[in-house]
Amino acid sequence: MEAVNSSSSISELDDISRLLDRPRLNIERKRSFDERSFSEMGIFETVNSPGGRSGLETPVSSDRNSFEPHPMVAEAWDALRRSLVYLRGQPVGTVAAYDHASEEVLNYDQVFVRDFVPSALAFLMNGEPDIVKNFLLKTIQIQGREKKIDRFKLGEGAMPASFKILHDPIKKTDTVIADFGESAIGRVAPVESGFWWIVLLRAYTKSTGDTSLADTTECQKGMRLILSLCLSEGFDTFPTLLCADGCSMVDRRMGVYGYPIEIQALFFMALRSAMSMLKHDTEGKEFMERIVKRLHALSFHMRSYFWLDFQQLNDIYRYKTEEYSHTAVNKFNVIPDSIPEWVFDFMPLRGGYFIGNVSPARMDFRWFALGNCVAILGSLATPEQSAAIMDLIEERWEELVGEMPVKICHPAIESHEWRIVTGCDPKNTRWSYHNGGSWPVLLWLLTAACIKTGRPQIAKRAIDLTEARLLKDGWPEYYDGKSGRFIGKQARKFQTWSIAGYLVAKMLLEDPSHLGMISLEEDKQIKPVIKRSYSWTC
Ligand code: GLC
Repeated sequence: MEAVNSSSSISELDDISRLLDRPRLNIERKRSFDERSFSEMGIFETVNSPGGRSGLETPVSSDRNSFEPHPMVAEAWDALRRSLVYLRGQPVGTVAAYDHASEEVLNYDQVFVRDFVPSALAFLMNGEPDIVKNFLLKTIQIQGREKKIDRFKLGEGAMPASFKILHDPIKKTDTVIADFGESAIGRVAPVESGFWWIVLLRAYTKSTGDTSLADTTECQKGMRLILSLCLSEGFDTFPTLLCADGCSMVDRRMGVYGYPIEIQALFFMALRSAMSMLKHDTEGKEFMERIVKRLHALSFHMRSYFWLDFQQLNDIYRYKTEEYSHTAVNKFNVIPDSIPEWVFDFMPLRGGYFIGNVSPARMDFRWFALGNCVAILGSLATPEQSAAIMDLIEERWEELVGEMPVKICHPAIESHEWRIVTGCDPKNTRWSYHNGGSWPVLLWLLTAACIKTGRPQIAKRAIDLTEARLLKDGWPEYYDGKSGRFIGKQARKFQTWSIAGYLVAKMLLEDPSHLGMISLEEDKQIKPVIKRSYSWTC
């Protein structure tokens, strides 16, 4: 490893942020941390390869930048390749889990759109874009089907949660069977599938430099259909997207109905990604105008009302209620007594985050990892907010990362609240699965957020934790317990996104230039919200 003194490390960090096409790092606030970070890890010389790599063998060796290849990397690649799904001889995706020991397959033998994202990124980073292209084309073709639940027809733009291929060895045919929510437990449509699809199309385009896929009539139309669904006008008074419970990664009833952060952050990122890929023809331009307006309103709403730090919490604690008229401070009429006890202890002086949900008289103060990391990646969070989110993760490491990265949400809901909120869901008992469980797949998002905010050392620490157990435990889907020590009650083994998430995290840390494919620089046109708040001014 190359030793770099602290002053040169700061200027090099400036260079990195420029090369990565991202906002300048807030160096003053976390200087001591950065002094130990990129420079110690010797990853400076690799940052400017906008197109990513291509044509390299698998796995790309980790001997660049003085990294020792970890034995888990080769194992992970083997396992990832075993999960591949073929359609007429071409790879089109990866199954959710390749767990032979599990008696119950349910739908884990399917290609989930959300689950395929880390697989796709791993393949792109490894210079294997074809499978990603096949997947994007196949899923957009599936979008074109008529989708019905009982007698009710879904919007044209809806994307599947998952699909599977049925091989008929006698007739020698392959049939694609898709699920838009009509078979899913709870019958919820995956609102984020379309967003992930757009984000992935941009990742493919960025990584390969090949704009021809995004330019095809199919992809342009597919994008417009997805956008039509989420930009349509109705009774909404907020720019956020109203959703049913369980419409994303948390696909069971968990009190995430309303305006969940995961959806809003992905919505924002997908809108911005679409902006960069829509053609400037009449239809494209019309959508671009609508997107610009929505982004403007959405960023204001999220940055103002979803953001919570010590100061903001104190303000809410002192809110008056029943204020009528547009001058109201407590706009949603949140009753201070509804603030849960835990949040007063949880909120550090340094740090902040986007809370889980905001709607009339309701603030869900829970922390959700995916939404906050995506908010950093899409630059929904301002640079100051991004830094504050990372501060929070550092300050509350035991709760948010614990022994197995990364906790899906914090804290768990228990007892009476669990009965009411989950409908007595035995899979989502406290500190298990979606209810405060730890999901290795989230490692890639944490790592990407760490790199974007100039804190690779945090990612390194999380990856080290993963390397101590994940392979040995057979790549579980999730872990249970307050600090994530136990393999999840019903966790699948050889869960593909746990495997791919690890690979993506490793590759991102080794070569931060990959970040460009899943990160968007701050949009200077979107004005920051000027607000008096502790963590924004320090
Ligand atoms: C579970 C998860 C969901 C995931 C699926 C396949 O249903 O809740 O997020 O996509 O498994 O892994």
